[in-house]
Amino acid sequence: MSIVVVDPAAPDAGSIGKAADVLRAGHLVAFPTETVYGLGANALDPAAVDRIYAAKGRPSYNPLIVHVSSVARAQDVVALWPDAADRLAQAFWPGPLTLVLPRRAIVAAGVTAGLDTVAVRVPAHPVALALITAADLPVAAPSANRSTEVSPTTAAHVEKSLGDRVDMILDGGPTHVGIESTVLDLSSAHPTLLRPGMISIARLEAIVGPIVQASHTGGEAARPSPGMLEKHYSPRARVVLVDASDVGMRVEQERASSQRVGAMVITADVEPSSTIMRLPAEAEHYASRLYATLHALDDVGSDVIVIERVPNSSEWLGVQDRLRRAAHD
Ligand code: TXA
Ligand code: MG
Repeated sequence: MSIVVVDPAAPDAGSIGKAADVLRAGHLVAFPTETVYGLGANALDPAAVDRIYAAKGRPSYNPLIVHVSSVARAQDVVALWPDAADRLAQAFWPGPLTLVLPRRAIVAAGVTAGLDTVAVRVPAHPVALALITAADLPVAAPSANRSTEVSPTTAAHVEKSLGDRVDMILDGGPTHVGIESTVLDLSSAHPTLLRPGMISIARLEAIVGPIVQASHTGGEAARPSPGMLEKHYSPRARVVLVDASDVGMRVEQERASSQRVGAMVITADVEPSSTIMRLPAEAEHYASRLYATLHALDDVGSDVIVIERVPNSSEWLGVQDRLRRAAHD
């Protein structure tokens, strides 16, 4: 496996060309997007797509997102391009919004895990766009981590999780958005939110009208995304979510039972230290640091990570979702 450092704003054509060759040869390249690092393969090559599942240890029923460089290239992989898709793409692409639409047969069946729909997005990262454009392929890419682990926001996170299971890592520094894209299903009667992200429901509704929220419990109105496992985005350490006023007490309790304790707080009245980390009070900045902080607390050998519950407002929905899954055992 090779790690190639590239300028995130202006990656050099030579490095991108090499990575594109790796993709065209049917191998795996990890690359930065604006959300998290992706583990890319040629979405038209069934054997290459199988390598993604093998490298991640990902269950075969959990479909992948196809990354493309433009609306025109998105239309190569979807069978329908409704007006709503067009308006959303105009508003949010390139960016952290994934649209689920009826698929075309050209897409390798493994990408969609046998579904008749495909998830597609144009990432807002110069390295990702340069790679996809140079390869001249739709690139299937889940987050570049072993299944159920915390997603990577740096090349070092990718290396720690996947090691030699990936052929090449393009190191474009830390990613900015910090949590995965918002996934919106446009293939059924009503636009349905399958995974919350940093593009809020309110911003989507302003463009396409009312959006159905897929329930975690699987109600009648909404089916969750096939891959939305309850245990996901999980550090090795046990994660507990508590109210701000209980953080100090919980940290003391865990220490009293000989646990190595890490904590992530926003407002809680506790003394910061190398393992008691204070995060920003704005959702956007919190999300940007969430996974790197979980990785860091794991790396120092925390047994438990005590996390202050985040606010209940709409801009925190994506972060709330990831924290809930991280805490699920
Ligand atoms: O920000 C992101 O979305 C990152 C970067 C690399 O682009 N990718 C990512 O991929 O998070 P992954 O594979 O970890 O998550 C893909 C999500 C899963 O929840 C999966 O179930 C859903 O998208 N998905 C993919 N195809 C789908 C489909 N046809 N129908 C419904 N859900 C789908
Ligand atoms: Mg993932």
